[in-house]
Amino acid sequence: MILRLQSNIQFIYELALARMELRSLGVSFRVRNSLRSFSADGTADTSTLKHRLAYCEKIDDDFTDYYFIQKYNQTRSVNQYLTHWIYPYKGKYHPQMIRSLLNIIRLKPGETVLDPFIGSGTTAVEAQLLGINCIGIDVSRLCTLISKVKTESIYAFEEVKRLAGSVAPSNVESVQSDLMRKRSWEAAKDERVRNFYQMAEMIAHSDQARRGKDFVKSFYENIDKMMESVNDYRNLCKELALKLGNVNIIEGDARHLDIPANSIDGIITSPPYSIALNYVENDAHSLKALGYDLNKIKQDFIGVRGSGFEKFKLYNEDMRIAIGEMYRVLKPGRFCVIVIGNVTYRSEEVQTTNIVIETCKSEGFQLLRKVDKIIFGLYNIMQKEYILIFKKPEER
Ligand SMILES: C[S@@+](CC[C@H](N)C(=O)[O-])C[C@H]1O[C@@H](n2cnc3c(N)ncnc32)[C@H](O)[C@@H]1O
Repeated sequence: MILRLQSNIQFIYELALARMELRSLGVSFRVRNSLRSFSADGTADTSTLKHRLAYCEKIDDDFTDYYFIQKYNQTRSVNQYLTHWIYPYKGKYHPQMIRSLLNIIRLKPGETVLDPFIGSGTTAVEAQLLGINCIGIDVSRLCTLISKVKTESIYAFEEVKRLAGSVAPSNVESVQSDLMRKRSWEAAKDERVRNFYQMAEMIAHSDQARRGKDFVKSFYENIDKMMESVNDYRNLCKELALKLGNVNIIEGDARHLDIPANSIDGIITSPPYSIALNYVENDAHSLKALGYDLNKIKQDFIGVRGSGFEKFKLYNEDMRIAIGEMYRVLKPGRFCVIVIGNVTYRSEEVQTTNIVIETCKSEGFQLLRKVDKIIFGLYNIMQKEYILIFKKPEER
């Protein structure tokens, strides 16, 4: 059997993950000379591989599910397929990498993955696609809103569609008389419908603040593009007969998880990279529009608390508590993946990755793999990040 890599694969870390996911799915293989394909023995279960693989586009003459998934894309970026593009959230991770990690840590349909720093919901969408349940937690209501809209709108699409064209943004001045005849989306009964339209408004806030676009025009353009993406998601589910995983998105604090001990089948997450990104300042326009007092919420965001060098001390303390919680809720014998990078402060590299590794070890995790991942793009403040794979030992 010949497994051909996706044509967009170009980094060593992607090849490393491609090999790891094949091994986790029980395939014995060898890399062929071109490095663009693998030959595997004929005993592998082709239908599971076809459904799950992230880095291969073809198995012999058949395309994998992921090949079709990537085609449902309303953007020009290959990674922003289905609902992934919704809201320009800084610091999201690569969906293809998450799909492969779900395979690598051997999660099966019906099992549950936790992401205690869910951000814009990448883990939730990828788990949902594979029929894996996901609990996603974030301290920011903006993030829980994005994650919910990406994963829940498919179930409320008919009502979303019925209202399109007759809703107005919630905060438009009454001088705009043609809008006055429309009702604000706030009147919708279904929370998922309200979330959808509130999201269109949040993207419009971002478009206005970052790109100087007209708020109302952007609101309506976003509705159209979001509806097309949600419709794509529905069509894809039909085309591939997907049985989606359940997603539960919760506004909460990674340092205090309301989840029983030893109950989670796997963790995949990327916490704030120390003080690299100020998640409060970065989305200030949207957080204010959601009614937040920015000074107050700062206290709850890891990596934002304190000033100067004190910030690092507080970050390390917060991460120790959050890692302790991840360890507590994970089932023994299962895996926890943390994607993290080092930040540079006053021209010095801060060893965030090593601190996180040492903290994980002292909480009881065993480090199984550290995969280097380069970050593309000159505008990035970091050039490298790491995929850390830990195991919670079996109970003796
Ligand atoms: C690196 S981002 C996660 C991005 C995510 N992987 C994605 O693909 O969009 C880190 C997230 O941690 C969240 N966060 C910060 N402090 C937190 C806390 N105390 N509890 C839960 N989430 C928190 C931030 O709001 C931010 O969304």
